[in-house]
Amino acid sequence: MSKKLTFLYLSEPDVIKTGLTLTETIELCTESLKQHGLKEVENPPKPGVHPKEDSFINAMPGWLKQKGVCGIKWVSGFPENVKQRLPSIVGVIILNSTETGFPTAVMDGTYITAIRTAAVSGVSAKYLARKDSEVLAVIGTGVQGKYNTLCLTTVLPSIKKVKIFDTWAPSLQTFQDQIRPLLPNVEFETASSMEEAIRDSDVIVGATAKLTETVYSDEWVKPGALVLPIQVGGWDPDVLSKFDKVVADDWAQLKAQQDFSRYTSNFDTPYAELGEIVMGKKPGRENDQEKIINFNKGLAVHDMICGGRVLEKAKKQGLGVELELMDLGSPIPMPPV
Ligand SMILES: NC(=O)c1ccc[n+]([C@@H]2O[C@H](COP(=O)([O-])OP(=O)(O)OC[C@H]3O[C@@H](n4cnc5c(N)ncnc54)[C@H](O)[C@@H]3O)[C@@H](O)[C@H]2O)c1
Repeated sequence: MSKKLTFLYLSEPDVIKTGLTLTETIELCTESLKQHGLKEVENPPKPGVHPKEDSFINAMPGWLKQKGVCGIKWVSGFPENVKQRLPSIVGVIILNSTETGFPTAVMDGTYITAIRTAAVSGVSAKYLARKDSEVLAVIGTGVQGKYNTLCLTTVLPSIKKVKIFDTWAPSLQTFQDQIRPLLPNVEFETASSMEEAIRDSDVIVGATAKLTETVYSDEWVKPGALVLPIQVGGWDPDVLSKFDKVVADDWAQLKAQQDFSRYTSNFDTPYAELGEIVMGKKPGRENDQEKIINFNKGLAVHDMICGGRVLEKAKKQGLGVELELMDLGSPIPMPPV
């Protein structure tokens, strides 16, 4: 009897049609961080290949034991694509059955990467930013600059002003066109330098391409600020000793990142992983003067939990295309010799 192994294929428009919101994604990523804090996950440091200078294609496997979700994201980052008006970060997610290991879905991972990365910044802000934060600096106004602005102004409704900086004028223009109408009560200011954007800001998001040289100074960061470096690099090698708390989403993954070996101070002593703070194992912000830096380099478990939710929603809405992978009913055919 023939029994087919099939999986659901979801394109980017299908994933977007499921209606996954930022608020829902913040809840999902809070849960995946809790599971990470409980050590109820497998989330090995991501290996990658680098076909062009400063590019990557990373493999990100993840399993949330209590949630029964597992799979992998294969995600590329080619920063120069932006200059051709193409996305720099593109991904594909494969979900697998935790019973048989069979693939259950193949879906776009680009939208999920964009929304879950911003959502994790939202979780960080909830625990680590001052509640009365008024000024947000966004360095790099591409996809993450925009999504982080939307997420952080939601989590921190006290934000009155967003200072933006980018080296590419069309990116600044698109940011203004897309974000300003969504946040009519927020003042926007285009800074003429990174320093101008960072000084006096309460929350600072770094969302540029990978930075190979030191371009930021901790001296620009005021007491009480939270720094969220989403991109790789840019800070002084001694930066960790200049902050009161150093937090990472996953310390092993951060240390495994080649670039991180540049950071010479406090190398083996993070204050906490973000999941430990979300779990209440360690306090987040404890006073209004602490300078906190939180490296969230991206956990596969966020992609898996969001991918699992998207798959549930897509099935309910009848989205996607069921594709056949193989016939399970007959023995494997012998290969031509
Ligand atoms: N940690 C994570 O989980 C995670 C997830 C997604 C993306 N990222 C990283 O976040 C960063 C931004 O991703 P994105 O999808 O928004 O990319 P993007 O290409 O859409 O945006 C990057 C922006 O940075 C600007 N830029 C580049 N170099 C700059 C510089 N030196 N100074 C100022 N602006 C500069 C570009 O002009 C562009 O507007 C990338 O480094 C990416 O690898 C991290």
